[in-house]
Amino acid sequence: MHPMIKEILISENEIVEKCKELGQKIDQEYQSSQPPLLVALLKGSVPFLSELIKHIKMDVEFDFMDVSSYEGTESIGDIRINKDLDRSIKGVDILLVEDIVDTGRTLKNVKEMLFNKGAASVKVVALLDKPSRRVVEDIHAEYIGFEIPDAFVVGFGLDYNQKYRNLPYIGVLKDECYK
Ligand code: IMP
Repeated sequence: MHPMIKEILISENEIVEKCKELGQKIDQEYQSSQPPLLVALLKGSVPFLSELIKHIKMDVEFDFMDVSSYEGTESIGDIRINKDLDRSIKGVDILLVEDIVDTGRTLKNVKEMLFNKGAASVKVVALLDKPSRRVVEDIHAEYIGFEIPDAFVVGFGLDYNQKYRNLPYIGVLKDECYK
């Protein structure tokens, strides 16, 4: 275990097993339609995307977006695109891949943006969900790996000041890391 980690909340093995389950569900859900385009949000969802796609049997393609949300009172709903999609998504079914749904702001903004670009549908698969932190109502992921309590977590893509994304599990940092 990394010396700065206080507790492992979800092990690597549990994440892999969950990705198998999610992959099967996604295959079933889209079996009578076109495979969705997976859109992963940089950087946090990269390890989750990498594991998840191993367990999806349909011929899926994936693309990446990098966005920043503004959180000023006037500007909730605004979003800055640091890296846009490489292709048009007019009429395309999108499966948005997220590391964690926290307040729900990112999801709301990105979903709106994808519909503005002409997406036929937008569903969400998130590795983690912190429902107790939700600020935006009516925002949820159709596929959720794990519901977690209100704790700041790192690992499997999630960072603290850009570090700990490479940990193969989800864990909680020791208090001294925040000093
Ligand atoms: P939301 O817009 O508040 O739902 O935030 C989503 C984003 O906040 C995620 O994609 C993460 O980048 C970040 N985030 C939220 N909670 C955590 C956490 O516990 N650890 C690391 N990053 C987090």
